[in-house]
Amino acid sequence: MSKKPVIDIRGLTKYYGDVVGIEDLDLKVYPGEIMGFLGPNGAGKTTTIRACLDLIQKSKGEVKIFGLDSHEDSLEIRRRTGYLPGDFGMYNDLKVKTILRYLLSQSGIIDDSRMRSLAKRFELDIDRKYGELSKGNRQKVGMVQAFMADQDLVILDEPTSGLDPLMQKKFYEFLREEKERGKTIFMSSHILAEVEEVCDRVAIIRKGHLQVVEDIHSLKDKMGKKLVVEFENSVDPDIFKIDGVKDVKIEGRWVTMIVTRNLDEVIKKLSKQNVINMSLETFSLDQLFLTYYSRGGQG
Ligand SMILES: Nc1ncnc2c1ncn2[C@@H]1O[C@H](COP(=O)(O)OP(=O)(O)OP(=O)(O)O)[C@@H](O)[C@H]1O
Ligand SMILES: [Mg+2]
Repeated sequence: MSKKPVIDIRGLTKYYGDVVGIEDLDLKVYPGEIMGFLGPNGAGKTTTIRACLDLIQKSKGEVKIFGLDSHEDSLEIRRRTGYLPGDFGMYNDLKVKTILRYLLSQSGIIDDSRMRSLAKRFELDIDRKYGELSKGNRQKVGMVQAFMADQDLVILDEPTSGLDPLMQKKFYEFLREEKERGKTIFMSSHILAEVEEVCDRVAIIRKGHLQVVEDIHSLKDKMGKKLVVEFENSVDPDIFKIDGVKDVKIEGRWVTMIVTRNLDEVIKKLSKQNVINMSLETFSLDQLFLTYYSRGGQG
């Protein structure tokens, strides 16, 4: 990509005393892309995000956002960046609309129409007190807050935690629309399926170290999906000798396989048998590491 990165992280390192938060992290996020930042608990996602926004002091390295220095120009960066913290929380006794209007006024915005339409879209009742809301509804407040000022860059730390699957879908849809409007989004997650669904590229972090940065399509191609089928009768495994199908395992009437290509051909083969049940699953993050990144030896 020839465009200048919106976020440019170089050699970013954060030690908490003797504990490595993140070490020597390099990452670029380009305008108009949704970049997923994927890693298990304790990998360093929140640390990276906080260091980028100058909310914690970095130990080493350099971060530029909009070409501005993350420390020197932190106020200007915060003004231009929507942010959903991983531990979003607000005053319990205040009404949601009071909180959101206050935060808007902090960004110098009086018109609350975008805030209202976002709340409506996410089915959030802004007339209720924050403290009365369920976990998922509190998370929606965080989300509305992150997007209501309509900034060019939005950084989200585990945005969908606490949301039910239907609301997650709505949120992914919204993110893709924002991307179409030219927004840049950097979001952390520990769910591969989520990142797969919404992101253009994914950066995978583990134990404070960046493991891979990859285009989502090439990651999908590499990884494939796990197909599990229950047949009425046992089947001949040879029917699954298809290009792009591997690790075929048969246990009685159950067959599992990894499909990276030619799913269509697999389905056609299946249709000649009596299928009772089947599922097509995305790998979990754990399985991804075990299958593809364990050879690197970082453990
Ligand atoms: N304030 C702190 N003091 C000491 N160690 C910390 C502190 N904050 C984070 N760490 C450590 O830094 C490492 C990275 O933590 P971080 O919170 O960035 O991970 P994460 O990827 O956001 O995890 P999660 O998915 O659980 O949110 C962990 O080993 C964690 O224990
Ligand atoms: Mg975190």
